[in-house]
Amino acid sequence: MITVREAQLTDARRIAEVHVASWQAAYRGILPDTMLDNLSVENRQENWQTWLVQTKGHVLVLEADGQVEGFVMCGATRDKDVNRQEVGEIYAIYLHPESWGRGYGRALVEATKAVLHQNGFSELLLWVLEGNEPAKRFYERVGFKADGVTKVEFEPDGTQLFECRYRQPIEIAHQFI
Ligand SMILES: CC(C)(COP(=O)(O)OP(=O)(O)OC[C@H]1O[C@@H](n2cnc3c(N)ncnc32)[C@H](O)[C@@H]1OP(=O)(O)O)[C@@H](O)C(=O)NCCC(=O)NCCS
Repeated sequence: MITVREAQLTDARRIAEVHVASWQAAYRGILPDTMLDNLSVENRQENWQTWLVQTKGHVLVLEADGQVEGFVMCGATRDKDVNRQEVGEIYAIYLHPESWGRGYGRALVEATKAVLHQNGFSELLLWVLEGNEPAKRFYERVGFKADGVTKVEFEPDGTQLFECRYRQPIEIAHQFI
């Protein structure tokens, strides 16, 4: 039995565990080993305690049998070349590696569309790392298409992140419970 709900402050620890485990599994070979090995659940927990309070968007968690297995953070897009009143963004979507491939990612995307639809958005975009081929295949499978726009971001340690943008319309009146 799975449930998607708005995250609470008490979820910060588990979200941080999922975040670190998912980065270390998904980005090995894409981002530097030292950066991945230095990720700390404690630091991420502190970040999440702040983000959960300060976010103007939504953080949704997916629970399976009472345990949080993944999360999505979404809201208005930060991109300046699109209409920010109409276009929402998935800022981050991560599942614990032991929970990949069970349909949970699709459930989080559907819940995101429902929430953003309720907030008046008619389109959804996200940025994915160039080398993250599994995630690209997932996004294409759940309805996204690359729009050809790319950018370079920098991590605090100076690591360069090459990213490309995916988009899809929010067409249906999704219901978020
Ligand atoms: C990307 C991620 C959120 C996808 O969630 P998931 O639960 O594993 O994916 P789902 O099981 O919901 O898959 C949904 C569909 O995508 C397909 N899919 C998922 N991963 C795929 C892959 N690597 N290759 C091809 N298809 C894939 C599934 O087969 C499924 O198709 P179907 O519903 O038509 O049968 C999850 O795997 C994850 O957390 N990955 C690591 C972190 C990451 O890369 N996040 C994205 C950062 S931009």
